[in-house]
Amino acid sequence: MAMIEEKKILTRHVGVNGMEKVEDYERDGGYIGLKKVLEKSPQDFVEEVKKSFLRGRGGAGFPTGFKWGFLPKEKDRPFYLICNADEGEPGTFKDRVIMEHDPLLLIEGMTIAGYAIRADLGFIYIRGEFKWIAEILERAIQNAREANYLGKNILGKNFDFDIIVMRGAGAYICGEETALIESLEGKRGQPRVRPPFPANVGLYGCPTIVNNVETLACLPFIAKQGASTFKLMGTFQASGTKLYGISGHVNRPGVYEFPMGTNLKDMIQYAGGGVRNGKKIKAVIPGGVSAPILKADEIDISMDFDSCIKANTMLGSGGIIVMDEDTSIPEVAEAAINFFVHESCGQCVPCREGLQKIQQMLRELLTGNGNSEYIDQILSLCKTISGATLCPLGDAGGMAIHTMITKFRDEFEALISA
Ligand SMILES: Cc1cc2nc3c(=O)[nH]c(=O)nc-3n(C[C@H](O)[C@H](O)[C@H](O)COP(=O)(O)O)c2cc1C
Ligand code: SF4
Repeated sequence: MAMIEEKKILTRHVGVNGMEKVEDYERDGGYIGLKKVLEKSPQDFVEEVKKSFLRGRGGAGFPTGFKWGFLPKEKDRPFYLICNADEGEPGTFKDRVIMEHDPLLLIEGMTIAGYAIRADLGFIYIRGEFKWIAEILERAIQNAREANYLGKNILGKNFDFDIIVMRGAGAYICGEETALIESLEGKRGQPRVRPPFPANVGLYGCPTIVNNVETLACLPFIAKQGASTFKLMGTFQASGTKLYGISGHVNRPGVYEFPMGTNLKDMIQYAGGGVRNGKKIKAVIPGGVSAPILKADEIDISMDFDSCIKANTMLGSGGIIVMDEDTSIPEVAEAAINFFVHESCGQCVPCREGLQKIQQMLRELLTGNGNSEYIDQILSLCKTISGATLCPLGDAGGMAIHTMITKFRDEFEALISA
């Protein structure tokens, strides 16, 4: 096992006081990136982001510069930027670290993105439970306005941009970008049918880009140091650093920043401090509860988008959940399905009914009332849901349970013979 070292770029101000204040943020190199970008054309910076190989940190890993490129070339309507700060998935708690400890980093990143995509206004959609973080953001936004880093004619460059903080009501589905847009419009948060995609028809029918907090927080570095320096970190296909949240049965749970592609096993050992009470690892969910589970002998992998797909799982949000040898996987499956059933918006029958049926059968298995056919019926239902829904929530629920059963089938069978 190789020793690994944290590379603190997005987390360098964790534990440092005063980062809501523009003077403190500037003293440590803040806003140099924005000043540099304002010297260039918006299109030049879009090209720079494409060259940087920055991929979205919200879960799907779509290349950020290319996504921005889908906006219409003509501008006959307002363009909007939305920062997705919903962060509702179990095992995921990384964006809040940026917002809480370095709010101006996110605000500078949004202003840079706002300039690059020619946005008129930015929104931070934050989950309702993060009230105190919303207040930190509000204060930092006000400080940035007073220093003319937000508002009209920013730094005399004829660029107007401002940011509004909106608190959600704590529904996981509102993290899905089209449901988020519905919710921002004051409607019930339910995913929209696509196409059209938000880059063409988004908030209030206008072109809209939705980016994750961590994605936007990478932009000041790219603006300041250039795409080539950003590319020196990470893998060939995905550059920069990544925030990994390690939780579960480890000695030192927390959020750690490593170059994209750091080895999962090493992270658990060296950052997470290994498993509590000298126990062995049984399983790891590498990217939030939607990501298919890995067995202990499958965790020697590079934590980047493509390597995780090769290992039949997902990097997702980078929320690593570690389970020790005493963990009951059927109980984990039940906790996971309870979450997905609770958070399904109910629009699609396969998701609404299918997940509930799986939940019901898992409950019966766990209470000793299971039938020997249940396991195969659950597996078949998981497959039926796959690809048959409007958004990936239904798929994710089915896939998570399917993998838990196929990899730990003996534990589910033991519930029947018991
Ligand atoms: C059910 C569901 C929940 C999601 N929750 C979040 C979230 O909390 N934060 C986030 O950034 N992306 C979330 N996403 C992904 C967003 O839809 C979107 O892809 C992302 O915000 C794009 O940002 P990025 O390109 O910077 O990654 C979720 C997706 C789904 C299907
Ligand atoms: S898959 Fe589920 S959560 Fe997604 S739109 Fe359909 S019912 Fe709603």
